[in-house]
Amino acid sequence: MCGIVGYIGQKNIKEVLINGLSELEYRGYDSAGIAIMQESNLSIYKSIGKLNNLIDKTKDLKTDKNILRVGIGHTRWATHGKPTELNAHPHIGEFSFVVHNGIIENYKKIKDKLEKNGHKFISQTDTEVIAHLFEYNLEKQSDALKAFQITINELEGAYAILLITKSENNRIFFAKNGSPLIIGYTEDEIYFGSSDAPLVGLANEVTYFNDNEFGVVSIYNNTNSIEIYNKKFEKVDIIKKSLSINKQFAQKGGFRFFMEKEVYEQSRVISETIMGRVKDEKIEFEELNKTLFDNIENITICACGTSFHAGLASSYLFERISKVPTKVEVASEFRYKEPLLNKNTLFIVISQSGETADTLEALKMAKEAGLKTLVICNVDNSSMVRLADFTILTRAGIEKGVASTKAFATQMVVLWMLSLYIANIKKSISKEFLEKELKAILTIPSILKIDNNLHEKLKRLSKRYLHGHGFFFIGRDIFYPLALEGALKLKEISYLHAEGYPAGEMKHGPIALADSELFTIALMPKNILYEKMKSNVEELSARDSTILAISAYEFEIADDFIKIKEQNHYMFEFFEMMIVLQLLAMEIAIRLGNDVDMPRNLAKSVTVE
Ligand code: F6R
Repeated sequence: MCGIVGYIGQKNIKEVLINGLSELEYRGYDSAGIAIMQESNLSIYKSIGKLNNLIDKTKDLKTDKNILRVGIGHTRWATHGKPTELNAHPHIGEFSFVVHNGIIENYKKIKDKLEKNGHKFISQTDTEVIAHLFEYNLEKQSDALKAFQITINELEGAYAILLITKSENNRIFFAKNGSPLIIGYTEDEIYFGSSDAPLVGLANEVTYFNDNEFGVVSIYNNTNSIEIYNKKFEKVDIIKKSLSINKQFAQKGGFRFFMEKEVYEQSRVISETIMGRVKDEKIEFEELNKTLFDNIENITICACGTSFHAGLASSYLFERISKVPTKVEVASEFRYKEPLLNKNTLFIVISQSGETADTLEALKMAKEAGLKTLVICNVDNSSMVRLADFTILTRAGIEKGVASTKAFATQMVVLWMLSLYIANIKKSISKEFLEKELKAILTIPSILKIDNNLHEKLKRLSKRYLHGHGFFFIGRDIFYPLALEGALKLKEISYLHAEGYPAGEMKHGPIALADSELFTIALMPKNILYEKMKSNVEELSARDSTILAISAYEFEIADDFIKIKEQNHYMFEFFEMMIVLQLLAMEIAIRLGNDVDMPRNLAKSVTVE
């Protein structure tokens, strides 16, 4: 949800900022902008839409190397104000520029105060007030860092902020609360990013800021200076970490879209997720301490979107296998329902990015209430990983497609393994059952190898599912959350209306929608409630709904049929169907001419509430 970058150094600053933004474009692509300062000359470039438009706009801008420059950049996912050039960042006061990720909740109050003091605003954003408020405070308080601190203390909400100002022409002021912000450095350069990605290959060492930290950086005499302060204006020690991520994983590698590549990668990343964790006839999570489960009587899972679907699916496993009562909550609902938190609850959050604002806040609530917390996450060093008591990393690698695929697959495997791990500790399963399950887990990478014929068939089939007035994805048991996920994939990238529904619930209302223009995607595993599913699908077929059945068994009344391999475990069917749903959504979206990797109105990392 918005990406920000910053740089001080002598490299070609336009390239550094734009390359950095291209690594963060998945966080928002409503507009992009950069501001560059050389001595006290400030220039700004903004354009609406994807980063390519900004690249076109700045093609004549020359920022050769060997001159010290300071710059900031932003890629936007609009929250306040439409995606117009005026609302694009960087935002400007009289002489200061600012980029911001997050939401300033009290911006209206600040704006009113500043307007009464003669400040003029040109955008509808919450961000613009930051530049003006800083200048207002600077008038009263000539020390720029102090003025910045006063400014930050007045802001309510979530933010990662970079600010440059003509009066301090080789410095960047920064602040973080809620939204992610990372600084990287070499001896004579400083980089900022909303994630590690823009820093890879440039900075060897990084520091992850904590909430409520702010400060200032600069380069003097070819040497960097970094000052970090806490809320009380006390200096904070700089904790350096090394940065080593292999950039080659973030290339498309011959596939049409990152999403397609990531669907195809699932077999490999699941092998990595399992590696070293299934051994000696049991599950090992080195990162967990077995005492984590002492006195645990139940589990609460909190997450958003696809990660929520993984959580919901896992509740079937935690209850069926581990025999632990499990509740699953959408994080944005959980936070405000005044939940009753019990110390005997293990609180699990699931997140690909580790930065989703609602999930992060739910995790903070659970920690403050003294619950044991565990995060299942794909991004090491993310905010959730740094906060939770325990972490299991999903090892999916960088996921670039906005529609999550391989992250979901790895989350599911981790959660399945965790259900067995807990069951083993709680002695709720037999040795034979555990052995059978372990064998099944080790088989998943081969189940996820995509058969070319299947993909070709889905490509052909997709052209019959481009119109109609909507889709119902239906399933029962653990296939119900998978149906939710299938529907989410389709709506995200095809913009067609789709709902996931428990198959048995259709007759309680939604079946009223059934006619030949309603497409039903029926998940019909042979291992779980097959006969019941059959009846539910027949009810829809009798009302003329067009049926696409996904099953190991031929189903004569289906209009279309995708056969999955005869499998003797419901989780094999789960993963096979998952692939079918991902590819089907992708092929429909491609036929509709959509940008599969950057669907409209979405962003990969949702760091606002
Ligand atoms: C859907 C999708 C989103 C995310 C959700 C949570 O394809 O990607 O629904 O799952 O925004 O994000 P994380 O998992 O990063 O917390």
